[in-house]
Amino acid sequence: MKRLSIRLRLTAWYMAILLVSLSLFGIVAFIAMRKGIEKSVDENLGGQADGVAEVMGRVLQQEPAELQDELREHQELREQADFLQVCDQDGRWIYRSRLMEHYDVPVPVKASYSAYNIVSADLPLRVLVREINAGAQTYRIQVAAPMDDFYDAIDRFKWVVLLLSPVLLILASGGGYWLSRRALAPVDQITRAAQDINSNNLAKRLDVPQSRDELQRLSQTLNSMLERLESSFNRIMQFTADASHELRTPLALMRTTTEVSLRTSQTVADYREAQQEVLSELEKTSSLVEKLMLLARADAGVETLQHAPINLAECLRDACKDGRILADAKQLTFTEGIESSKLIVEGDLHALHRLFLILMDNAVKYTASGGSITVGLKRSNDSAVAEIRDSGIGIAAEDVAHIFERFYRADKARSREFGGVGLGLSIARWVAEAHRGSIEVQSTPGTGSVFCVRLPLLQS
Ligand SMILES: Nc1ncnc2c1ncn2[C@@H]1O[C@H](COP(=O)(O)OP(=O)(O)OP(=O)(O)O)[C@@H](O)[C@H]1O
Ligand SMILES: [Mg+2]
Repeated sequence: MKRLSIRLRLTAWYMAILLVSLSLFGIVAFIAMRKGIEKSVDENLGGQADGVAEVMGRVLQQEPAELQDELREHQELREQADFLQVCDQDGRWIYRSRLMEHYDVPVPVKASYSAYNIVSADLPLRVLVREINAGAQTYRIQVAAPMDDFYDAIDRFKWVVLLLSPVLLILASGGGYWLSRRALAPVDQITRAAQDINSNNLAKRLDVPQSRDELQRLSQTLNSMLERLESSFNRIMQFTADASHELRTPLALMRTTTEVSLRTSQTVADYREAQQEVLSELEKTSSLVEKLMLLARADAGVETLQHAPINLAECLRDACKDGRILADAKQLTFTEGIESSKLIVEGDLHALHRLFLILMDNAVKYTASGGSITVGLKRSNDSAVAEIRDSGIGIAAEDVAHIFERFYRADKARSREFGGVGLGLSIARWVAEAHRGSIEVQSTPGTGSVFCVRLPLLQS
């Protein structure tokens, strides 16, 4: 079933609440009016009964005939309709006025209830009973009042309410619909503006109404969400562009080498040389593709690391073996200062090995022959701190903030010369952070750099 719009639902709720309120009001008003009228009639009847009781008290010693005369006289002095009857405890009439006789109001069955309603010959009557004791005798006085006029008035009120309610309901619902439309109009506006935003104009923002209310907060929230989306979108675009660029260069190189070789090579040695060149480019390209895939999987959250307790000292020593080979090839002094005790961290052996190797590879790459590399590992509070220090070219202050960004190279031409694409440190930082650790750098251009990897130790 199709859901109704908020506007219609609000109006429906509003109508339902109004309907219940109006019904409640009608019922309560009706009962209150009836009770109020009966109460004032009862007071009036009570006054009449008191008058009669007083007369009876005065003349009870006299003969019944005289009592009747006295009561008739009393009644005739009254201007109101003549509804009075008096009987003794056996139900014998002492006095009965003409109207009481006409409507044949019966003797009360129970003397206890003082006022009650009866309908006699289509006339609704309110009757009040009062008992008085005189000597051994008990008398019951009944006075009554016709209620038809009052009930007619209440009836008229009932009809007015019944007829007016639907009109009121329709008017109020119309008002409710209009109000909710007005209140929700800015939401529609936000919806339309948001619909206009797509990948081509992600920089666009919604207008923020200065209303200091939910709508202002909604627009601000959407805008900050757009901001985050835009920056990740831009990062992805940049990543794709850089990756394609990096892939294009070796491909072009391989193509040219092959073409030239096909055109000019005469001997097997020429072909071998060309093949060698192509192979070297292919190796670099595979390494690049592998790095890209690793980062893409890490971004997508599918690259999961295995977490197991490992001895970091062992892992670093292992990485140093590879590092030393690289350093030796470039005539660099390689020194190891790794603590002999076990430093256990929870992590992925393969990933951490890779992290150290990235740092050692950089140290070797960016240090000229004759320089030195020192690798250290020590405990510091609850962390293990690995340090890879070199006496290389160093990093300028303005580059330090960026070297962990993807494809960032302090000196493009130089890095390329060393076969760098600028992804090593991005991967290193991802590995460190995936282990709840961090990686920092201190560097002085011309003197050298120190990379510090801090990883939390496993609490035994
Ligand atoms: N030890 C270092 N000494 C001087 N500069 C460094 C050092 N380590 C990194 N850099 C600078 O930081 C940049 C980024 O390093 P990163 O390891 O991410 O990329 P890369 O070494 O150029 O390429 P690759 O992806 O092959 O590692 C380098 O290009 C280099 O300019
Ligand atoms: Mg590198």
